[in-house]
Amino acid sequence: MSDLQKSNSNLQAVGCVEIDDLSIRFASPQGREVVAVETTDLRLEPGSFTALIGPSGCGKSTILNAIAGFVSPSSGSICVDGKAVTGPDPEVGVVFQQYALFPWFTAIGNVKFALKRFRLGREELQRQAHEALKEVGLGDRASAYPGQLSGGMKQRVALARTFASKPKVLLMDEPFGALDAQTRISMHELLLRIWDAHRTTVLFVTHDVDEALLLSDRVFVMSEGPGRIIDSFEVQSDRPRVVDQVDEHFVANRNRITKLLRQSHADSI
Ligand SMILES: Nc1ncnc2c1ncn2[C@@H]1O[C@H](COP(=O)(O)OP(=O)(O)OP(=O)(O)O)[C@@H](O)[C@H]1O
Ligand SMILES: [Mg+2]
Repeated sequence: MSDLQKSNSNLQAVGCVEIDDLSIRFASPQGREVVAVETTDLRLEPGSFTALIGPSGCGKSTILNAIAGFVSPSSGSICVDGKAVTGPDPEVGVVFQQYALFPWFTAIGNVKFALKRFRLGREELQRQAHEALKEVGLGDRASAYPGQLSGGMKQRVALARTFASKPKVLLMDEPFGALDAQTRISMHELLLRIWDAHRTTVLFVTHDVDEALLLSDRVFVMSEGPGRIIDSFEVQSDRPRVVDQVDEHFVANRNRITKLLRQSHADSI
């Protein structure tokens, strides 16, 4: 067990997310009401890795944005560690598909910016930011600007920045959707390694069935929009999971999700 894991195991479990009877409606530009999310319950256990999967437009990002405090529920409630979400919280980190790095800051500058709220001394700030970049394998690219980095590297800086600020909940919205297959696999390995060390509660949005099953402890499946949760189950397959060496649980779960998504699509047309 690493020192970080030891110190984390002494901490009280934090990062519990509870969603009850959530529904979210928007007004369309024509003044009509769009139901983005229908009555939904969802619970993220502290330190767990949960995937939220569903077809395009079913409301995955809307749920994630509501947990992040960017969007208000129309009804129902969202609590993090028993406290109702009323707006963005620095302890709830978000990683989007678009890297959202500041192009005018170097890689280390981006990480330092995220650490501002800790009011660290200059040297400590530099040390922690550098440590975070080392953790994602970019210790030697600290002074590169985002424009000089590949897509995978930019997303690694985004991961370093987010984990460095020690969120208790990490929300990820199709973070690797723009990456090629090989880079994606190495990002999965990296993410799981960092998650294992930090044990942050992760909600990972994807529409890729294999990605959901490779990464998570639990999967929530949503119907076609307006979305609601139509299934949720634990992923029993042992880790590490490798896409071309999957076990019988993996195959059964893959079939289960694919069937549900196909059925939900057929019902919607
Ligand atoms: N700010 C908004 N105003 C009006 N409608 C919105 C708004 N945000 C989302 N919607 C609508 O809510 C529904 C759900 O959108 P959302 O982006 O959450 O889907 P998604 O599951 O994340 O899709 P994708 O997989 O394509 O990212 C869609 O019909 C979308 O058009
Ligand atoms: Mg989305």
